[in-house]
Amino acid sequence: MTVKTIEWRANTVRMIDQRLLPAREVFRTYRDYRGVAEAIRTMVIRGAPAIGVAAAMGVALGIRGTAHERARKRFELVAKTLKATRPTAVNLAWAVDRMGRVLEANLALGEDELFGAMRAEAIAIYDEDLAVNRSLGQFGAALVGNPATILTHCNAGALATAGYGTALGVVRAARDAGKIIEVFADETRPFLQGSRLTAWELRKDHIPVTVIADNMAATVLAQKKIDCVVVGTDRTAANGDVANKIGTYPLAVMARRHGVPFYVAAPLSSIDLNCPNGASIPIEERAGRELTEFGGKQIAPKGVHTFNPAFDVTPAELVTAIITERGVAYPPYTESLRALKEKN
Ligand code: MRU
Repeated sequence: MTVKTIEWRANTVRMIDQRLLPAREVFRTYRDYRGVAEAIRTMVIRGAPAIGVAAAMGVALGIRGTAHERARKRFELVAKTLKATRPTAVNLAWAVDRMGRVLEANLALGEDELFGAMRAEAIAIYDEDLAVNRSLGQFGAALVGNPATILTHCNAGALATAGYGTALGVVRAARDAGKIIEVFADETRPFLQGSRLTAWELRKDHIPVTVIADNMAATVLAQKKIDCVVVGTDRTAANGDVANKIGTYPLAVMARRHGVPFYVAAPLSSIDLNCPNGASIPIEERAGRELTEFGGKQIAPKGVHTFNPAFDVTPAELVTAIITERGVAYPPYTESLRALKEKN
């Protein structure tokens, strides 16, 4: 995809505003870490790997003009601010902590050299994410038939990463391998990442896509149109329980009911061996007005109670395989995920 989700440009961070897609392609430029934190919180940028890259770039902006003990103090503040934006995707904390290690290793440097080292690390995180997605895509493409119709949820595409995508990386790699691929995209209420973003980027890449409302997935699966489901993840626990966009769990239940393989595209940075199972993954709850208002219009009575968890947890037993950049993990995940994480 030619549009860049996020980019380091002349010591600023530039992002496409994903809240406005597909109607408008507007780019925003951030010069300090607070702006980057706000962009993550308000979902100008979203998707686990993309917010990891954004946070790393935010840290680089944040420590600029400091060195030695002042840099360490500033990092504490910047890291706290960035980590508080969205709790579920482990990539965010992973990227911030990685930047912290580079800071510690370079504390003897002066301001300019330290900033240079931090900027280089943030750009390396961006570059590595692209390479990870391409490799993950290759492993995933091998699991996909030809022709194949793939159902996906939310947006785990170029817009959710540095580029290429995880779940949509599998789609792209299968297509690039010459397979005839068609995608069904759940619209993904309430933020509509499926209909707004997945459909937008697949159309840009000329990959056939059909948008359905979330409550149509069972019908589509029942009519045997789907060869496999492929989704992304914000955090996968050591036992293979998968946190992903709300609505992923029911999709996995339906896929099992209809005998359709359910694959999770998971860069190793989103696998958290410190979380033993899904119950220990923090689930973000977002504002109720995402449910009661739409496009500035009231669509539920004012003052009604709401419950708006942004993610759910799919139990490992419903997951056919987890696709990473180092290979495909199969159950039992406690062993297979650890083996892939420790492989080099
Ligand atoms: O709330 P979002 O849009 O950040 O949620 C995104 C998802 O749930 C994605 O599926 C996940 O981050 C994987 S992106 C490669």
